[in-house]
Amino acid sequence: MTTVIHHVQLACPPGSEEASRAFYAGVLGLVEIPKPPVLAARGGCWFRGHGIELHLGVEQDFRPARKAHPGLLVADLDAWADRLAAAGYPVDRDDDFPGMRRFYSHDPHGNRLELLEPLSARPHAGEGIDFADPSSARTYSGRTADPSWVGALTALVDPAGADVVDLGCGGGTYVRALHDLGAHSVTGVDSSTPVLEQAHADHGHLTGVRFHHADATSTGLPDASADLVLARALVHHLPDRAALAREAARLLRPGGTLVVQDRTAADVTQPAGPHHLRGHLLELAPQLLPVEVGRRPDAGALLQALESAGLTGATPRTVWETRAHHPDRESYLAGIATRTGRSLLHHLTDDELDQLVHDLRDRLPDEPLVERDRWTLWAATKP
Ligand SMILES: C[S@@+](CC[C@H](N)C(=O)[O-])C[C@H]1O[C@@H](n2cnc3c(N)ncnc32)[C@H](O)[C@@H]1O
Repeated sequence: MTTVIHHVQLACPPGSEEASRAFYAGVLGLVEIPKPPVLAARGGCWFRGHGIELHLGVEQDFRPARKAHPGLLVADLDAWADRLAAAGYPVDRDDDFPGMRRFYSHDPHGNRLELLEPLSARPHAGEGIDFADPSSARTYSGRTADPSWVGALTALVDPAGADVVDLGCGGGTYVRALHDLGAHSVTGVDSSTPVLEQAHADHGHLTGVRFHHADATSTGLPDASADLVLARALVHHLPDRAALAREAARLLRPGGTLVVQDRTAADVTQPAGPHHLRGHLLELAPQLLPVEVGRRPDAGALLQALESAGLTGATPRTVWETRAHHPDRESYLAGIATRTGRSLLHHLTDDELDQLVHDLRDRLPDEPLVERDRWTLWAATKP
């Protein structure tokens, strides 16, 4: 009587072992296991991890399995979607399986893969931020845009008189800043109801400002209605960056500009320093590094997505932006302890977070702290 599947075999073309390793070990995080010598001579490679074993076997007349596929049960489906998308693999969501969230992708040979997670797996501390949770309402509110941000933005585009759409506007910090810079109208778009309600409560009274509940990749706003589209700190939350570029291109009038601002892997791995406090977070909680690096956009890939959407001239440039002036170490640590404005910290358990706060207290001086982060900006024009 069969009780359990020992392994699943997938086919691969001759000479494709390196591509298999780069994907199954490098992206999926499986460990390669040695093939028995008699079988090793036939090529291919075997992998094990996350409770599964996959054998890639060479087939001379290889054709990818586009329908048949293994279904891999995972925790934190969204992090897996980010990871695959960041590595350049497709993420095709499909909600037709009752009780499950899932998406399809494929390996470098074109073999279909399904990743799925039970709907009952509720997010909680340690598994990433839940933007829909009412407790997230204030996580991006209560801040003002720093002059270093205003300087970096206005070096690229003049918002005065412009109709602006701020995609993934969060608490509305930059909606207000754009209003204050003289924009004719600013529409803040966000997919989180609690976050958007807080933004509306804080900034909805400003002339020309409105908030719109929608996904950033399909806003439902009219074609060619914006002179400037901003997406600040959004793309690392999006599995499909090409869809964001297409939506921004649709919203822009000819001559309009999309400004994408996010941190790349190179930005987030800048060394720790007296002002680069995030560097200390990653040194003291190195388990966050794969999450942080895995979800970050690749500068070149994003550029390509913008160009494919018909947007031109987007040379990425880096800036150091002042995030906050903390009057003392304890006020900085209070923000860390509550995970305020830092979705990354939602990947730590409560105990890990306590330990991090403790270690930061040991490491940082008890004095006013100026916190700066390195960002990459892409400004692309609609011809
Ligand atoms: C890191 S916050 C950035 C907020 C703001 N842009 C800023 O720079 O302070 C990311 C925001 O994107 C929103 N978001 C995430 N995925 C989204 C999506 N698919 N469509 C629209 N908003 C999204 C979240 O609700 C959150 O408010």
